[in-house]
Amino acid sequence: MGKITWKPGTMVYPVPAAMVTCGTLESPNIITIAWTGTICTNPPMTYVSIRKERYSYDLIKEGQCFVINLTTKSLVHATDYCGVKSGKDINKFETTGLTPVASNKVKAPSILESPVNVECVVKEIKELGSHDMFLAEVVSVTIDDHYLDKTGKLRLDLAEMICYSHGAYYSLGSLLGTFGYSVAKKTKPKKKRPRK
Ligand SMILES: Cc1cc2nc3c(=O)[nH]c(=O)nc-3n(C[C@H](O)[C@H](O)[C@H](O)COP(=O)(O)O)c2cc1C
Repeated sequence: MGKITWKPGTMVYPVPAAMVTCGTLESPNIITIAWTGTICTNPPMTYVSIRKERYSYDLIKEGQCFVINLTTKSLVHATDYCGVKSGKDINKFETTGLTPVASNKVKAPSILESPVNVECVVKEIKELGSHDMFLAEVVSVTIDDHYLDKTGKLRLDLAEMICYSHGAYYSLGSLLGTFGYSVAKKTKPKKKRPRK
């Protein structure tokens, strides 16, 4: 038993498997993207890394915007499909049955069926090698109000989000703790008053 060293590679998993929309409402496209994440809180910034040969690459470069649509268990089939078929051959909205809707702040459409749509404006394109990284500012976020509880809290845990890990899609497991729980003071259980 021991550790083995692999050649350097992309082994930071799990990551999102997001459906990124680009183009326009009239001529939209969807590309599945795993190389994405948050890179700054204020201003809210994100990135997508895309190979130059993707049909979406030029759409995003020309439009200077995209939408990151988060994915769920019911969207996993479409997520994979949009990651193996090209928009240069087909209209992926038509073939998946997903619904393109106008976004708030960008020309790229959002996916109605996705619980969270993150609208982004490109700030910089960094050539890295196989992929170019589109650094972008988040300019609007749309939430499906189905996942808001009575107090207005977003219950993303009910949305059955998926992730991507080393070539496969997974749903999330059970809750293990909440932010800061490791240092949170334990509240003593209230003593029960004896009933009279
Ligand atoms: C799970 C998954 C993740 C992917 N992540 C990326 C990515 O981060 N960057 C990228 O350039 N391509 C990625 N791809 C490949 C593109 O989604 C795929 O080539 C797609 O067909 C391109 O669509 P387009 O030609 O319509 O732009 C991924 C594919 C899958 C299935």
